[in-house]
Amino acid sequence: MRSHLLNDLTAEHYRRSVTEGVERVAARLATTDRPFTGVTVDALAPRIDGIDLDRPLHDTTAVLDELEEVYLRDAIWFHHPRYLAHLNCPVVIPAVLGEAVLSAVNSSLDTWDQSAGGTLIERKLIDWTAARIGLGPSADGVFTSGGSQSNLQALLLAREEAKTEDPGKLRVLASEVSHFSVKKSAKLLGLGPDAVISVPVDHDKRMQTLALARELQRLTEDGLVPMAVVATAGTTDFGSIDPLPEIAELCAQYGTWMHVDAAYGCGLLVSPTRRHLLDGIERADSVTVDYHKSFFQPVSCSAVLVRDAATLRHATYHADYLNPRRMVQERIPNQVDKSLQTTRRFDALKLWMTLRVMGADGIGRLFDEVCDLAEEGWRLLAADPRYDVVVEPALSTLVFRYIPQAVTDPAEIDRANLYARKALFASGDAVVAGTKVAGRHYLKFTLLNPETKASDIAAVLDLIAGHAEQYLGDSLDRAC
Ligand SMILES: Cc1ncc(COP(=O)(O)O)c(C=O)c1O
Repeated sequence: MRSHLLNDLTAEHYRRSVTEGVERVAARLATTDRPFTGVTVDALAPRIDGIDLDRPLHDTTAVLDELEEVYLRDAIWFHHPRYLAHLNCPVVIPAVLGEAVLSAVNSSLDTWDQSAGGTLIERKLIDWTAARIGLGPSADGVFTSGGSQSNLQALLLAREEAKTEDPGKLRVLASEVSHFSVKKSAKLLGLGPDAVISVPVDHDKRMQTLALARELQRLTEDGLVPMAVVATAGTTDFGSIDPLPEIAELCAQYGTWMHVDAAYGCGLLVSPTRRHLLDGIERADSVTVDYHKSFFQPVSCSAVLVRDAATLRHATYHADYLNPRRMVQERIPNQVDKSLQTTRRFDALKLWMTLRVMGADGIGRLFDEVCDLAEEGWRLLAADPRYDVVVEPALSTLVFRYIPQAVTDPAEIDRANLYARKALFASGDAVVAGTKVAGRHYLKFTLLNPETKASDIAAVLDLIAGHAEQYLGDSLDRAC
């Protein structure tokens, strides 16, 4: 069994094993002609259930053969141009190389004595991101597991900085289309069930600042404490960007922590043509960035940034075995002092490899391409009488609904759209997402693949229409 330990004696075994795995994935990538096979839970579950984990195969090739059956063959492939569903990007090769290196070296980024250069590389990337945002000389931050954790940490800091001892008085304001992790964070932070106030959005799904101003005023008059405003730079469903300068102004006026959830919109930080869409982000107290959404990085690769490094002390605990207080005086950089996690992956290496190989502009240009594609997709949808499209995209999502000419019952139209999404998924021809707008079922494209073409969008719209028609035809037959 020692032959499986990665060390000086097994370097050749490591090379062969990993190469064999890489070959399998490369072969799949080269031959996958659909984003999904359409396999059902009922078909796949018995294959996985049937494997006895107490009877190992002892042979890498045999295990990879098995893996083809239980995973690779039926995986959902984000690199495919017709995967248009969630906020998953195709990944860039330098980052995948980084992933291979970081898991083999297996540094843990909690302390200097478990990572050395890894800590310094992460800190440099944090400084680089903070500078791109424009947070100023006192900024800092830390890599996290994802946008949800970044939002949680930002709100933890905001809660600790709020000027009240009574958690029952704390309120967080976020738009009605902000990410659900805001509400989840409030719950985890022990805030009351009414702590998150939903601020209405305008026609473009951007927070209405007049409504925000009214809420802030009302809270103050009621003796409550608006501890944070969460502005979203790239809402999950619509890609809309809240009016950051106006929100910053209001936060300054009321002494409220401004958090910008740029989990999705952070790609604009490197966009050669659209950086201005983030104007105002430099006034934030904290910012969430998900490199694994719009920097083409493998999951996970994210960070939370803060304007004032000192606020990160609210996440600091000292343990004698790990990061005793004296290390601060000794100026030993232990990232665990800033993080909600202890043992932590060196995800920063992926971004490092990407920036060193491709450069920031290279990433930004890819993100620009998907935003351009979304504009093209919007024009297609707006001109197509079969579809109602909700909002012109600021980033790269399109939310739309098939509207048959002959049917007026909105519930029946809901069912046709739901059916079309399911049928498309089952066919494996394309994968699209769904959401609700004003209580009605809509479909969603999240465009993050520069290889997707307008012709793919047009083809998938035809497929959706075909499935919806099929449903309506069958439903008419059922009624007769
Ligand atoms: C705006 C926004 N914030 C936060 C998140 C949560 O990010 P993660 O899934 O990385 O936890 C998402 C995820 O889609 C998001 O769209």
